[in-house]
Amino acid sequence: MHTVVIIPGDGIGPEITESVKTILGASGAEIGWVERRAGEGAFKDLSTPLPDDTVAAIEKHRIALKGPLATPVGSGFRSVNVLLRQKFNLYSNIRPAKSLPNIESPFRAVDIVLFRENTQGLYIGREHWVGENEEHAESIAVVTRDASRKIIKAAFEYARSHNRKKVTLVHKANILKLTTGLFLTIGKEVAASYPDIEFEDLIVDNMAMQMVIRPQRFDVVVTTNLFGDILSDLASGLVGGLGVTGAANIGDDAAIFEAVHGSAPDIAGLGLANPTALLFSALMMLEYLGETRKAEKIRSAVYTVLQDHKEKCTKDIGGEGTTSSFTEAVCKLLRD
Ligand code: NAI
Repeated sequence: MHTVVIIPGDGIGPEITESVKTILGASGAEIGWVERRAGEGAFKDLSTPLPDDTVAAIEKHRIALKGPLATPVGSGFRSVNVLLRQKFNLYSNIRPAKSLPNIESPFRAVDIVLFRENTQGLYIGREHWVGENEEHAESIAVVTRDASRKIIKAAFEYARSHNRKKVTLVHKANILKLTTGLFLTIGKEVAASYPDIEFEDLIVDNMAMQMVIRPQRFDVVVTTNLFGDILSDLASGLVGGLGVTGAANIGDDAAIFEAVHGSAPDIAGLGLANPTALLFSALMMLEYLGETRKAEKIRSAVYTVLQDHKEKCTKDIGGEGTTSSFTEAVCKLLRD
């Protein structure tokens, strides 16, 4: 029995976490769920977006599955997602984007695993005003040798253990010569220890274009925080959108699994949310827990539903169904 902290979160979070718990239960995975709160809902009810007992539960169990958390735009509390990543030093954000059966897309045979540095860069949100009348605002990007080495090594180790052939490092070292220049320098150093894996580096704007023109040329990709944020959504778009891409935040001694998408307030409570992204995140969690066979069994059931029962899938991927019709279809296959 594994114990996992579950945070349903905001918007569509409660609907999709319930679906994922049901599907994991139907697969026979033995998980004891410890439910805790975070996000906008927690802020409204408990006056904090990240209650102490949520942090304590993650500190104790070291593994969590998290629904999306809404973050106010422009002002208000800071992103709980970012706080959690920093608090537990979850330096690897891993986002696979793989073409799925029977999902309409102009792109075929995409299979990219993107490693995004998760604790530094511009994303730390260290900003301040300058001048008495707030004439301008400044933002600080932090890149350290240590954190760069950790994420780049994680990408190479993944490539080696998953029989991948190439690591592409993405940067903007022509303009941000110190920060992303340092990331590139460390990348070249680390690459020298992995002669069996091809290494290339690309400037981020070129990367965005290449990903659209020929995404099949990419295998494992590693980049800094903000570039990774943007490129991983682009990668999701290549394989069917935000509803079908999972993610893992992994550190040396804790891991939080979550979907790439947000709380989707426009469809919350309507039964339209696609739980596949969070489910794929949960499959990464099962693999992390050593339950690889269960993960494979569920993945294969999802592929069968996509291929043979598309009408049960949610509308964002061309189905005619709802969160529950998809959940029931996957569970039926698992029970059969
Ligand atoms: P979003 O990802 O919530 O939604 C973008 C679009 O994709 C919407 O049209 C939505 O309906 C659709 N969509 C997203 N997930 C879907 C799913 N599972 N099934 C079907 N359709 C889906 O992005 P948005 O609107 O920019 O952000 C909303 C809130 O979520 C914000 O407060 C933001 O801060 C937060 N957010 C949280 C994240 C997290 O917790 N990791 C990540 C991204 C955003």
